[in-house]
Amino acid sequence: MSDWVLILGCSAGHGGATAKKLAEQGYGIMGFHFDRGELKKEAEKTKGEIANLNGGNVVFWNTNAASQETMDKYIPKIKELTGGAPLKLLLHSIAFGTTTNFFGDKPVNQKQMDMTIHVMGNSLLYWTQKLFEADLLGKGSRILGLTSEGNYVAMEGYGPVSVAKVAMEAIIRQIGWELGQYGITANAVQAGVTPTRALTKITDRWEEWIDNTKKRNPMRRTTQPEDVANIISLLMKPEADFINCSIIYCDGGEHRSGMV
Ligand SMILES: NC(=O)c1ccc[n+]([C@@H]2O[C@H](COP(=O)([O-])OP(=O)(O)OC[C@H]3O[C@@H](n4cnc5c(N)ncnc54)[C@H](O)[C@@H]3O)[C@@H](O)[C@H]2O)c1
Repeated sequence: MSDWVLILGCSAGHGGATAKKLAEQGYGIMGFHFDRGELKKEAEKTKGEIANLNGGNVVFWNTNAASQETMDKYIPKIKELTGGAPLKLLLHSIAFGTTTNFFGDKPVNQKQMDMTIHVMGNSLLYWTQKLFEADLLGKGSRILGLTSEGNYVAMEGYGPVSVAKVAMEAIIRQIGWELGQYGITANAVQAGVTPTRALTKITDRWEEWIDNTKKRNPMRRTTQPEDVANIISLLMKPEADFINCSIIYCDGGEHRSGMV
């Protein structure tokens, strides 16, 4: 087992915070992000912070991690960096999809649905298949994806992402079921509403969502990316070896709290 982790969506939000937390604990960080313009500078800043934490063991690739060409191009580089040893973690934390309703002014179309489900759901399967094939997943490796309450409640603009989340949860369950025999586990972390860039893309009313979440959440605050990073760092421990095919809630109890 290597001390390297691979984070899809490493430059911001949950993926960025997890990269920093795991770097602090000595892991090497390999990550994909897809940032243009000003966001590229933010990604560079995150990368610099990680380098300061783990002595420079960080590689960021700014390209679409959901494309098969990317997987095929970078898996040999990943293998070179780990020296052929399996990754400790594959984390899918990509936020990239269509946030529109099914009906109304801008009804979602098939291309948008297919893209969203592929990038935010199915791409985790293809990464896992290819990494497993390349012996880059082994005993003690973790596969984790981010899900949300929006996978079982309907929300403004969230339909396509909701479908992707349901697909991802099914993919994670099946991966854990098939690869558990090799000591590889797969789980989803369900984060509560978190003020990240992705949230501002779902709805123009995101500030209202934050205010309502603070009222609704039993702990009277929103989830922060650092909360998710903390849960993931717990899941990295050997004590978590037997947690498989599960959803772990990281939301202060938000999903148990009624809306009224
Ligand atoms: N923010 C929330 O309220 C919330 C709640 C629950 C779950 N989630 C989930 O957490 C995950 C991360 O979301 P976030 O809120 O941290 O988002 P974010 O916008 O803060 O970060 C998204 C990351 O994905 C990267 N990215 C986007 N498209 C990419 C692509 N094609 N290839 C490679 N990288 C790509 C970005 O560069 C960035 O690093 C998503 O799956 C999201 O649905 C978010």
